[in-house]
Amino acid sequence: MKLLLYTQHPRFAASLDDFSQALPEAEVRHWQPGDTAPADFAVAWRPPQAFFLGRDDMRAVFNLGAGVDAMLGLEREHPGTLPKHALLVRLEDTGMAAQMAEYVSHAVLRYMRRFDEYARLQAEHQWHVLEPHPRATFTVGVLGLGVLGAHVAKVLASFGMPIRGFSRSPKYIDGVDCYAGDSQFDTFLHGVKVLVNLLPSTPDTDGILNAHTFAKLAPGAYLINVARGAHLVENDLLNALANGQLSAATLDVFQQEPLPVQHPFWSHPGIAITPHCSADTLRNESVQQIVRKIRALMRGEIISGIVDIERGY
Ligand code: NAP
Ligand code: GLV
Repeated sequence: MKLLLYTQHPRFAASLDDFSQALPEAEVRHWQPGDTAPADFAVAWRPPQAFFLGRDDMRAVFNLGAGVDAMLGLEREHPGTLPKHALLVRLEDTGMAAQMAEYVSHAVLRYMRRFDEYARLQAEHQWHVLEPHPRATFTVGVLGLGVLGAHVAKVLASFGMPIRGFSRSPKYIDGVDCYAGDSQFDTFLHGVKVLVNLLPSTPDTDGILNAHTFAKLAPGAYLINVARGAHLVENDLLNALANGQLSAATLDVFQQEPLPVQHPFWSHPGIAITPHCSADTLRNESVQQIVRKIRALMRGEIISGIVDIERGY
């Protein structure tokens, strides 16, 4: 069995040994420009179009991340790029759900307990107790109730504020009010104080964090975007912060990454920025999951995490 790698991902720079050790029955090689030799499986993160040239016999392509927007974007731009009969498989959790829950909980609690405002008061040497946000109306809405969103919603529910979730198909999660489908979107948004985005980036969801969405939230709401920069209409965020519809935003992902040095988000007092690190691809967990799935496919078994290319995630 032949396994082809394209792993420029910082966490995977030296992953040939990891895969060779975890899958000794495979011949593992890194792809180099011009390599069109046969391969049964591929493991890749944001590969160039040339990576897929002449690979119609490939059985599965494993995306080294949860979001497959880059691979599907390549396919939309150059139809026929992805191997015709290959499964496209994404990472499922591999330690990312716990990291997302930490990141999002930290941001939600920072806003609920007004820690940003206390930091500003400290800078002015001011001893002043702020009126706390009432827990009962500090409603958090999680967009996307998949592997990551469902876990984040469950962890947030343990803090006792009202939690809502939104997905395409109906869900039932203990402690979470679940809404599904376009017809329930406005009801989901109405009165939400913190909007957390964990949707995949698809033609249906790109631009969903826009002025119309913000206008339906509670006045002075907060935004936490940990999914993709393509979801956010950047000028709409700046306007919503300027007119008070939003109080603040925590952003981990951006339309252009790294965020350009002159970008207005860097110095905006209401925006907290992290460099796309809310949930790292963990090396060992990811290699183990991919190897387990390759072996299952070799035995003719069904695996989970297969991307529906039409749906876009
Ligand atoms: P997932 O398991 O595929 O879950 C996606 C969720 O979004 C599902 O609940 C799905 O609904 C819902 N959804 C998709 N399209 C929708 C639409 N048009 N309307 C309403 N709901 C829709 O994905 P995941 O593993 O949780 O990951 C989510 C995203 O997080 C990834 O795609 C990636 O972009 C991002 N991510 C970011 C980082 C980071 O470090 N910042 C790390 C990992 C992942 P159904 O359940 O009904 O299908
Ligand atoms: C990271 O952004 C991922 O999609 O796994």
